[in-house]
Amino acid sequence: MTPQEASQKILAGELVVFPTETVYGLGALASNEAAVKRIFEVKGRPQHNPLILHISKDYSIKTLVEEIPAKAKFLMEHFWPGPLTLCFKKSSHVSDLVTARLPTVCIRCPSHPIAVEFLQNVSAPVAAPSANISGSPSTTRLEDAKIQLENKDVFFLEGGTTPIGLESTVLDVSEDPISILRHGAISKQSIEEVLNTSVADATKSQVIRSPGQTLEHYAPKGILTVVIGQPEKRRTWIKQQKTYHDSSIGFIGSFSGLKAAHLYELSEKESDLESFASRLYLFLNWCDRLKSTHIFIEFPSVGSPISEALIDRLEKASRKNMIFV
Ligand code: TXA
Ligand code: MG
Repeated sequence: MTPQEASQKILAGELVVFPTETVYGLGALASNEAAVKRIFEVKGRPQHNPLILHISKDYSIKTLVEEIPAKAKFLMEHFWPGPLTLCFKKSSHVSDLVTARLPTVCIRCPSHPIAVEFLQNVSAPVAAPSANISGSPSTTRLEDAKIQLENKDVFFLEGGTTPIGLESTVLDVSEDPISILRHGAISKQSIEEVLNTSVADATKSQVIRSPGQTLEHYAPKGILTVVIGQPEKRRTWIKQQKTYHDSSIGFIGSFSGLKAAHLYELSEKESDLESFASRLYLFLNWCDRLKSTHIFIEFPSVGSPISEALIDRLEKASRKNMIFV
């Protein structure tokens, strides 16, 4: 299917799975209530978890929001198109179904060339969560989205493996100070550098600002244990586990000496967390396809701009089953 054919499908009220630079999305025309409702049904997504609106760069967001604060304008100029989602006070033109009755609306302008062509052809906002069954790992290649959403009567737009592999950063610009609602591909530090001011981190606050952050997320079907520390200590710990020989292991560096059932390289180097991020959901979907019951993931103790987002995803995917060795 071409981006143009996909846009015709969505304009006709169908759901379309499409690539972005972060993960695949499951889109519906935001102005079509029946189609938006179907997103929640297809994913098994709770109605109280709002959706992000996707637009192309040439679409004016003025009608969707009450105001565009100066800082938001600056961020849009700097980071759009790209993996930064901004949360504004919503206008009455955005349906309560999309925003789960919140007074805000999240908007994102993807940079993936196929998403750009698709959204330009649609010429209207596309409401889209990640293209996966609610609670399961996000998908970063079309085959994985097809497996999770098979028999769901949705259309698929091919776009290869998504380059970043982790969801966008969600930033609330509806209030000052602005705050991070979800860590993602763009780090808090790079946002602070661009704005030359500090940004609050609402992901650790007790007050729930983003419904999706409380839900079980990204989790494979098997028991996932994340092992954090120096390479040799990680390996020693994993090899001591009863389930080691029957497990699937997402490793970093060399696999020599590992004797598990299935091995998957998440990154060649300890320091290359960008590769790790781009392969994490490939690995988790692979584990589900293999019906792995026990999964180990190695994670380094070194930091990188994408560490916060990765730790958030690993924490949720493992249901906080993280071991520091
Ligand atoms: O990279 C991405 O953002 C991908 C691609 C497909 O664009 N989309 C994505 O959507 O990750 P989803 O629905 O899986 O995650 C959106 C997150 C959820 O945690 C949701 O609760 C939050 O954004 N969110 C959406 N609208 C919100 C709002 N008005 N206020 C607070 N949080 C909101
Ligand atoms: Mg999601």
